[in-house]
Amino acid sequence: MPEDLLPNQLLTARGLEAGYPGKQILFGVDLAVAPAEVVVLLGANGSGKSTALNTLSGFVRPWAGSIRFEGAEIAGRPPHRIFRRGIVQVSQARDLFPDLTVEDNLRLGAWARGGAVDALAEDVFRSFPRLAERRRQMVRLMSGGEQQMVAIGRALMGRPKLLLLDEPSGGLAPVFVKEIAAIIAELKRRAIAMVIVEQNIKLALSIADRFLILRDGRVTQRQDIRAGAADEQDIVRSIYL
Ligand SMILES: Nc1ncnc2c1ncn2[C@@H]1O[C@H](COP(=O)(O)OP(=O)(O)OP(=O)(O)O)[C@@H](O)[C@H]1O
Ligand SMILES: [Mg+2]
Repeated sequence: MPEDLLPNQLLTARGLEAGYPGKQILFGVDLAVAPAEVVVLLGANGSGKSTALNTLSGFVRPWAGSIRFEGAEIAGRPPHRIFRRGIVQVSQARDLFPDLTVEDNLRLGAWARGGAVDALAEDVFRSFPRLAERRRQMVRLMSGGEQQMVAIGRALMGRPKLLLLDEPSGGLAPVFVKEIAAIIAELKRRAIAMVIVEQNIKLALSIADRFLILRDGRVTQRQDIRAGAADEQDIVRSIYL
């Protein structure tokens, strides 16, 4: 049995099938996340990475399979219910409100999960000094890297038990890739479990406990890299060749 199908996981997805009208994308995907674990999903463009994350968060309804989160079956539940349970996603498009300020975008992240909103916001501003300086700025005036920070900050406002990040470094300049990597490393130190889709293999391997490779909607490789380093060239070959 694959190590990620053992009991005592935070999340266990088995046999996930999903897609869009007339087009199946995921074929029997098994994926599990232990508490505080970081699982990275690798794969070429169109391999189904975002569809897999969107299935976990409920934005794509699975056709078949099971998703257990903290012991409850959540497959087929609507996204807001899944969010309330603590699965919080930063989508590939980030989905911010461009005409609202940084602070208002953050506050919206606490909507539906409650908590001490002011304290949560101050905590985010402490972790992201760049955002603190720009708290009253409209999000559309910020760079891509800063917007990614707002998106991650907003997700933290939802007090995630499981954070889903879809290409957090996507399209960013190297200086921002570094900053985002540092932020993810800090979240890992805080023991937030994560599933991260990442095309930057160096970044992926620097933060992952385990990785999975998706190919045409199927998991073709899974590896625990806590014990030893993975071979980057091998991984590139498994993804693209
Ligand atoms: N809303 C949608 N309706 C129809 N097809 C879709 C939709 N979203 C994605 N697809 C298709 O599903 C397949 C997988 O897309 P998905 O976005 O999951 O891949 P990905 O691995 O995240 O790719 P990328 O690396 O480009 O982000 C693609 O062929 C895509 O065109
Ligand atoms: Mg994607």
